[in-house]
Amino acid sequence: MIVARTVAALRDVLRERRVGSIGLVPTMGALHEGHLSLVRAARGESDTVVMSIFVNPTQFNEASDLAAYPRTEERDLELAAAGGVDVVFAPDAAEIYPAGFATTVSVTGVVAESLEGAERGRGHFDGVATVVSKLLLAALPDSAYFGAKDAQQVAVVRRMVADLGIPVRIVVCPTSRDDDGLARSSRNARLSPGDRARALAIPRALAEVTDAVASGVCDPRALRARAESVLAHAEIQPEYVAFVDPGTFEPVASVADATLVAIAARVGDVRLIDNTVLTPGHTVPARGGA
Ligand code: PAF
Repeated sequence: MIVARTVAALRDVLRERRVGSIGLVPTMGALHEGHLSLVRAARGESDTVVMSIFVNPTQFNEASDLAAYPRTEERDLELAAAGGVDVVFAPDAAEIYPAGFATTVSVTGVVAESLEGAERGRGHFDGVATVVSKLLLAALPDSAYFGAKDAQQVAVVRRMVADLGIPVRIVVCPTSRDDDGLARSSRNARLSPGDRARALAIPRALAEVTDAVASGVCDPRALRARAESVLAHAEIQPEYVAFVDPGTFEPVASVADATLVAIAARVGDVRLIDNTVLTPGHTVPARGGA
């Protein structure tokens, strides 16, 4: 496995590999099984798998969150190599944001300004869109792989790629979950054992909503009340329980078509997000498994 620290080095490595297909898995490191499932998807479809590892400072709204973000590069490189990554792109901040950097890619509207955009501030998705566009331009992959857990990030990236005409296929892989149903996240490592147990109320709330939709409930207010009651049993007050169009993030008045139910909540001092897609008549449960 090759480790490239600069865009120039990455392009050198990829130049001769462009005869085949290139898949990019963008990450901020602290790799877990969720990232490795993205690598497996990329591996299955690409001749060369590139993983970027870059803790992007511009997408953190809290300095303490950025400081607390786990940095485990040595282990990440071992996991990436074992997972079948061919090239890791691991730049430092000055490579991505050189002196004088003055450009921001900013997706506007509900898709970027609601929910995570509202809770974490305008800068969050500006930071994501800017760094993802830079990573796509650096690697020029045929396909880029993202996890469904970050559903709003996916919607923002899709909007940006469509608007800027970036020639890349965005592939969304199912949320990777621990056996008990908790969505895998680098942040889970910061949960105390008690909070880890309480956090299970989040996938339970999604499952409750999924079951309610399957039994014919389609009013978001009634569905939200059910989710909030499950969360309240675990003493979790969500930042939001939202029912939105999965592409635009516009709130829905009724769960009549495929609808994303998204939850964000602080458990202890760790902020967690999770979601599932509700399809009346055919639902994807949020319980354990892959
Ligand atoms: O999902 C993430 O890990 C990050 O937001 C991403 C896409 C790597 C951009 O920094």
